[in-house]
Amino acid sequence: MTEQSNVERKKIVYSGIQPTGIITIGNYIGAINNWLGMQDEYDCIFGIADLHALTVRQVPAEYRARATSFFAQYLACGLDPEKSILYFQSHVAEHSELAWILNCYTYVGEMQRMTQFKDKSAKHEDNVNMGLLDYPVLMAADILLYQTSLVPVGIDQKQHLEIARDIATRFNNIYSPTFTVPEAYIAKSGAKIASLQNPSAKMSKSDPDPNAAVSIIDDPDTIMRKFKRAVTDCEPVVEYREDKPGVSNLLTIFSVMTGRSIDSLVEEYHDTGYAKFKADCGEAVVEKLRPVREEYLRLMDDKKYLADVAAKGAERARRIAARTMTKVKKKIGLVLA
Ligand code: TYM
Repeated sequence: MTEQSNVERKKIVYSGIQPTGIITIGNYIGAINNWLGMQDEYDCIFGIADLHALTVRQVPAEYRARATSFFAQYLACGLDPEKSILYFQSHVAEHSELAWILNCYTYVGEMQRMTQFKDKSAKHEDNVNMGLLDYPVLMAADILLYQTSLVPVGIDQKQHLEIARDIATRFNNIYSPTFTVPEAYIAKSGAKIASLQNPSAKMSKSDPDPNAAVSIIDDPDTIMRKFKRAVTDCEPVVEYREDKPGVSNLLTIFSVMTGRSIDSLVEEYHDTGYAKFKADCGEAVVEKLRPVREEYLRLMDDKKYLADVAAKGAERARRIAARTMTKVKKKIGLVLA
């Protein structure tokens, strides 16, 4: 496809994942699974947000390996470089360039009020760096750079999307329409998958408890063990209820991974006891992820292919990004090179 014709024809979808911890089934259900379904209808751009994760100190060699592994996991899940642009954020310098410019249209107070900034600065008290505060502006740059209409994310990113919309609208009002004002696409089901060990908390990719989160490339035995240990409650009936967060979370995972409705699962498992319910849920996840893991292992043996796909993706991304940057620079009065 040529970028020009598709930009005119289809709406742009943009999203990304930070290469920290592991890609969990929460990331899969809340984000990647929705991306897969959008690839035919939209022009999709999916980045590995490797500049964002620098807000926390990384070990360089491990970081490089993890970012490559995440890229392979994108492909293994079925993101298709023939349909979508897949690339590393750091390969397209325009992200940082636009972030700087947007900084000048963003208020410090707005950033200090962001929930994630407050949480992360409490968690990393010894390293409350400017990047942590500025994180949402870089994310706005990611999105606005490509004239994105839709951003498929989990519920935890909603506030970041709102600020991206505010920044776009503010800029458009000062000058003239420059950026498409993006909308969050948050699926009704699975936008917040909970930890298997603490159903009141989000499943997090960097949870220190290894039983709390399932990686999309965990081996079958590990997946089964984690599901068998999943925290439920002491009233052994399978129902989707607010006061049964553990069971409801498993029902959501089971439903998304099999395509079955929650009602039909409740009907089948209502009185079977938790052991069978958890084992069958684990089995469904194993089966869904089996091809992902196999393809991932194959791809990790072909680093040259991964590098080629990333290079092509970055080149295509750069072309779109450069157009937006020229437009922005003209509007704000920079002398064009
Ligand atoms: P990140 O890396 O924390 O998460 C990646 C995606 O997974 C979703 N997600 C979840 N969904 C359901 N249940 C969960 N437990 C769960 N945990 C995470 C997130 O909502 C997200 O969609 N700032 C972003 C990365 C980013 C980005 C962007 C996203 C950078 N630039 C531009 C969209 C557009 C982040 O940290 O996501």
